[in-house]
Formats: sequence, C-alpha cells, structure tokens
Amino acid sequence: MTTIVKISDDALARAAGADRLAEAFARKGCEVHRVSSWGMHWLEPLVEIDGRGYGPATAADVDAILDHDRSSTREAEKQPKDGPLGGAPLAPDFSPEGAPERMWGEVIEDSLFIATQTRLTFARAGKTRPLSLEDYEANEGWQGLRRAREIGPAAIVEEVMHSGLRGRGGAGFPAGIKWKTVLDTPGLQKYIVCNADEGDSGTFADRMAMEGDPFQLIEGMAIAGEAVGADQGYIYVRSEYPDAIGKLDAALKLCVEIIAPFKCEVRVGAGAYVCGEETSLLNSLEGKRGEVRAKPPLPAIKGLFGRPTVVNNVLTLMAVPHILAEGGAAHYQGHGLGRSKGTMPIQLAGNIKHAGLYEVGFGVTLRELVYDIGGGTYSGRPVKAVQVGGPLGAYIHPDQFDIKFDYEEYTAAEALIGHGGITVFDDTVDMLEMARFAMEFCSIESCGKCTPCRIGSVRGVEVLERIRHGGRKRDTFELMPQIRNAPKNAGRDAGDEIGLLTDLCETMKFGSLCALGGFTPYPVMSALRNWPEDFTRDPANVEKALDRVEG
Ligand SMILES: Cc1cc2nc3c(=O)[nH]c(=O)nc-3n(C[C@H](O)[C@H](O)[C@H](O)COP(=O)(O)O)c2cc1C
Ligand code: SF4
Repeated sequence: MTTIVKISDDALARAAGADRLAEAFARKGCEVHRVSSWGMHWLEPLVEIDGRGYGPATAADVDAILDHDRSSTREAEKQPKDGPLGGAPLAPDFSPEGAPERMWGEVIEDSLFIATQTRLTFARAGKTRPLSLEDYEANEGWQGLRRAREIGPAAIVEEVMHSGLRGRGGAGFPAGIKWKTVLDTPGLQKYIVCNADEGDSGTFADRMAMEGDPFQLIEGMAIAGEAVGADQGYIYVRSEYPDAIGKLDAALKLCVEIIAPFKCEVRVGAGAYVCGEETSLLNSLEGKRGEVRAKPPLPAIKGLFGRPTVVNNVLTLMAVPHILAEGGAAHYQGHGLGRSKGTMPIQLAGNIKHAGLYEVGFGVTLRELVYDIGGGTYSGRPVKAVQVGGPLGAYIHPDQFDIKFDYEEYTAAEALIGHGGITVFDDTVDMLEMARFAMEFCSIESCGKCTPCRIGSVRGVEVLERIRHGGRKRDTFELMPQIRNAPKNAGRDAGDEIGLLTDLCETMKFGSLCALGGFTPYPVMSALRNWPEDFTRDPANVEKALDRVEG
C-alpha cells in the first residue's frame, strides 16, 4: 500500500525546506499531500504519516521516518482492538527541561500545543490541501454560505451579532454592528473589502489562513456580501505575501460558480504599514496615495469609491462560516470571556521556544501562553518583556503576566490585543532602545497628515537619544564674531528630557488622527513605566514625570 505523507506547503515550511523534503518522499514512491500547516513552527518542516509527526525533518531523515512508521504500524497492529493504539512515541526527543523540541512519531493531535487549543477559525489547519475543493467540501466547507442564503440578510446579521464576533484587525469593533450599518445604508453598489495587509510585527495568522484555507476566507466574504447586499469583494494583500496571493488567485478561479453572483478579486498593496488602516487602505485600493481619511464618514456609509463598504480583517471573515453554520453562533459565543467572545488565533513569536499559531478562547493568561505553551525563551534566558498587539502594543512586564487575553482587561492596563501577536524578549533587551524603535517606526510609517504624529515621532527619537546620553548639553552657536559661543539654552538633564517625553506622548495620544500616532505612546510609555532603570540611573526622574501626567 502506498504511504501517504503529509507535508505543509505554507511559506514558513517551504522556507525551512519542505519542498526538498516532499521531493525526497516522492522519490521513495510515497504519495505526498501538500497540506496546510499545523502552526507548530519550531517543528517545520513537519512530516505527518497516519497522524504521527516527525519534525523538523530533512531529506536525510526520510528512511528513518519510513522505518519508524512501519515499526509503529506493526506495534499498532499488535495492540488489542480496544487497547491503546500504537501512536505513542517510540523515540521521543526531549529537551533537558522535558519539552519535546523535536517530534518523532508522536500523535500530532495529542501533543500539548495542539490538544489544548480550541480551533474554530483554524479547524482545518494541518488537515486539508488548501486548493482542494474536495477536501474543503468534505470538511464542512460551504455550509455557512448555504445556510446564509437560506436565512437572508437580516438573519445573517442577527447571527453575527449573536456570536459576539469582534473585529480581529485590532480595534475589536463588533462585526455585526458594522454589517448592520452597511445593510441599512441605501446604495446600488456596496463592497466587501478584506484587510489582509497584516503589518503588525510578530503576526502571521492572516498569511497562514490565506495560504492554508483560502476557500474559508472567500466563503466568509461571500456571506458578508449576502448579508449586506454587496456583489463585489476585494482582498487587499501585502506584496510580501506572494504565496498567499497565488493561492487566493487560484482558489478564486476554482470557486467562481459556487460564490456567484458574488465576485472577488485580489489587490496587492505596495507595502506601507499605514495602508493597513482601513481608510488609508481604501485610498490605496482606489489608486490614490495611502493617506488616512478623517472619520466620519465611516467606510460603512461612504467607503470604497464613496459606496457603503464592509472592511474586515482576514480572521474576522474567516470566523464567519463557522458562525453561520447550524448552531454556530451559539457555539462561538460559548467560548471566551466577558465581552470578548469566541476564539483568538494567537501568534507566538520573537525569542520563544515554541513559536507558532495557537487558537484558544479569550481568557487565557500571558503566563500560560509564554511559559506553558510557548516553553519560555528560545535563548533559555529569563523573559524580560512581551509586546502584545504589534508595534503599537504595550510592553508587558512578567509581573503582569496574569492579565487575561480580553479586550477590556488590556484596555484597562493601557495595552492592546491588536491582531493577537505576542513577541517575546529575553533579559538582554534594552527597553530604551525599544522605545526609540517605536518612535522611529512611527516616523518612518507616518502618512504625514497630522502634526503630532509626523513631527512628534521625529522629536520622540531625538528626545530618547538625548535621554540615552544623559540629557541635553548646553548648546552653543555662533551668531556673529562679536558674540561668539552665545548660549542657546541652559541645557536639560535626563529628568527634564523624560518629562518632555511624557508630554510629547500625551500630545501624540490625544492629538493624532489615527492609531498610528495615537498608540505609539503605548510601547514608549510602558517601557518607561516598567523598566525605568533602562532610561535613567535615577528612577525618581521617571516617577516625577509619570506623577505629573497620571496624577
Ligand atoms: C496604523 C494602522 C494599521 C492597521 N493595520 C491593519 C492590518 O494590517 N490589518 C487589519 O486587519 N487591520 C489593520 N488596522 C485596523 C483597521 O483600520 C480596521 O480597524 C480593520 O481593518 C477593521 O476590520 P475588523 O473590524 O475586522 O478588525 C490598522 C489600523 C491602524 C491605525
Ligand atoms: S496619526 Fe500619523 S498615520 Fe495617522 S493620520 Fe496622523 S499622520 Fe497619518
């Protein structure tokens, strides 16, 4: 019997050598299925045979894997029919701390990383071939769309509201309310726009979703179209995702008739962080400069080409087919915490042992994510900080790791869930440098429309440079030979500069038009608040500045 070998064709697995590995198995006469990724990135390229995983694997491991599979199968056949199957690892490879660093014959679905997840958005991850309509249909594909067509627009919107689904792009706005606004706004032409710009550092869930299950995203968009009366959709993807673009184009061709009369096209963004902001994205889609538009009017009222438009993130739309399937909304809202309903595909990145995609109901703590699931730092050194929510997210100190993944808890802690990216840093990180980086990032990516962001971020970099060097030296300049070296100002010490930085952050927070300028103070101020020793030898400087703005 031909051995069926599953190897992911996700871009990360391919970058780690999955294509060469697949060819090596094919040369041995195996039937190779290129499936989506399980999301255990530290194990890629991962080989799966009969549910057992081997990874990271190279072409040199092929014979050993096939031998192991044959002996596991023999073991399994020897077991009594109602006894344990032979799926137990025969030769697991353990790290000194006991965490499996290499998977060798373990049943993938029994591994801690997979078994503790609640996979609703990524239910098919690791299991199906991304461009197989047959696999999609056989695994509950199109059920949501079929039911949506039966129940009609108002009931679809009602289901989405009932599920409690909130936008996964960052702002956490209730999807049902947005859809209802578009439904209720008159217009001969309406649009569904999928925001696949995914610019946040440490995030990759959109990419994995588009590469691994493109039909699910298309189904979600077709349901949105059905709900609000839109027959045209656009997926705005960043140019850095060529594999996702290729998969989406191919998938759209394969399902034209299934989604008709809804039509959908892919548009490629040239690559600017601010083009992920929805109004900037709409300008870019219209062929204009990616500059933020003032709101109101909301895109739901006056969006793409001035028409009512739903703009939703990939993960928001990916959650919809499950919600629309029979009983899906109630099931979805049964997970989570408070007003944060459902599941969140969390992305573990940075200096972490088990990097990857972990989907779980809201309410999980950072401690569980970083240590229990993530296995601590990759370097083995103590964790110093974790940035949650991309480049505009706060740096969270290990003392705060009991914070639960919940929109409201994070807001109360002056932090962001954002797109669910978690970037871990060990104790070698310099938090002043990270604060400087946040300001520099904002200065590079600013669309330039408003002053607090455009100018404030440049000044922020300068202030942080001066804090690093202990303050501003007394300046001198030459006016005329007769008043040589006239003092320009009296100089400022590090404490004065920290006061200036906090003032600047307040101005950016309250004076910026969009969240790029408005949220850059989050990483800066959290770094200052939690690690004052990285900014100044005298923590009283920081206390004084914080008392003034917070007191
Ligand atoms: C600077 C900036 C960048 C953003 N980048 C993204 C992005 O890459 N992807 C995304 O879905 N939303 C991004 N957003 C949020 C969008 O403006 C918008 O809230 C989102 O697309 C709405 O979809 P949702 O309700 O499904 O989250 C960004 C916002 C800002 C201010
Ligand atoms: S905050 Fe920055 S990115 Fe946003 S509108 Fe103002 S200048 Fe543009």
